[in-house]
Amino acid sequence: MSTVMSEQEKETQIPEGTQSSSSSSENQEASNVVIEVDDVNFAYVKGKDVLRNISMEVNRGEVTAFIGPSGCGKSTLLRCFNRMNDLIPTAAITNGEIRILGTDIYDPNVDVIELRKHVGMVFQKYNPFPKSIYENVAYGLRIQGVAKKSVLDDTVEESLRLAGLWEEVKDRLDASGLGLSGGQQQRLCIARTIAVKPKIILMDEPCSALDPISTTTVEELITQLKDDFTIVIVTHNMQQATRVSDRTAFFYLGNLIEMDETTKIFNNPSKKETEDYISGRFG
Ligand SMILES: Nc1ncnc2c1ncn2[C@@H]1O[C@H](COP(=O)(O)OP(=O)(O)O)[C@@H](O)[C@H]1O
Ligand SMILES: [Mg+2]
Repeated sequence: MSTVMSEQEKETQIPEGTQSSSSSSENQEASNVVIEVDDVNFAYVKGKDVLRNISMEVNRGEVTAFIGPSGCGKSTLLRCFNRMNDLIPTAAITNGEIRILGTDIYDPNVDVIELRKHVGMVFQKYNPFPKSIYENVAYGLRIQGVAKKSVLDDTVEESLRLAGLWEEVKDRLDASGLGLSGGQQQRLCIARTIAVKPKIILMDEPCSALDPISTTTVEELITQLKDDFTIVIVTHNMQQATRVSDRTAFFYLGNLIEMDETTKIFNNPSKKETEDYISGRFG
């Protein structure tokens, strides 16, 4: 029994990018697209769509940035990807479909808890639990019923290392997560998210509450994480989008105006609205 458990646990701990030697290689080849948004409309209140006819694809192992002026729907679409908008009673997708790893995530049979294991989220305002650094990172595994100390220890260390925080906190894992600096707290939240090995990490303006040095640290971290995770990041900072992302989607008034390689969007956009926005004419 315990052998079976630990093998399952081990299985879930293999970062996606290192699985090529396993039997899932044919699935990997099957699609490079992890998120497919197909003609989606979304409304918080019936009759008032705040996203209109959005279609896009998010590629595996890339960082995709969502940019656009405040209120254009970036966060709304991001929150659709792990069904965070379900918490708002009247909110609904009113047209189209979102498929993640081939599954229609709004299908009534989808287990939302299970979905959120695969699609983790990091918020603008870092939000460690009032627990120790160790327990913050171990939290998701404990929820899943993992109790074995060696598994928890290994995952906590591995996740903190990936989040670039291990060296700073390894001697005080029992100290409160709330005692860390802002930048460290955000990296702790990233460690907590990656500890359960999601396939996708959603980040909604993860640096906007951070000082410039912490922002640089988190941006470098994002670039490293894409080896193992697919990342979608909302940012109001266009320089940040150019620094961290492979592809950029520009939204305006609930519409996806243009999505392309980041260098293309910022150097030679196809649409006039994009050009106006990136050159600072509005927003
Ligand atoms: N909880 C909510 N209830 C009703 N309307 C909302 C809610 N959250 C956002 N909106 C509206 O949806 C639109 C898109 O907002 P949002 O996705 O937060 O934009 P962005 O992240 O691009 O700034 C805006 O018009 C905003 O006012
Ligand atoms: Mg937002």
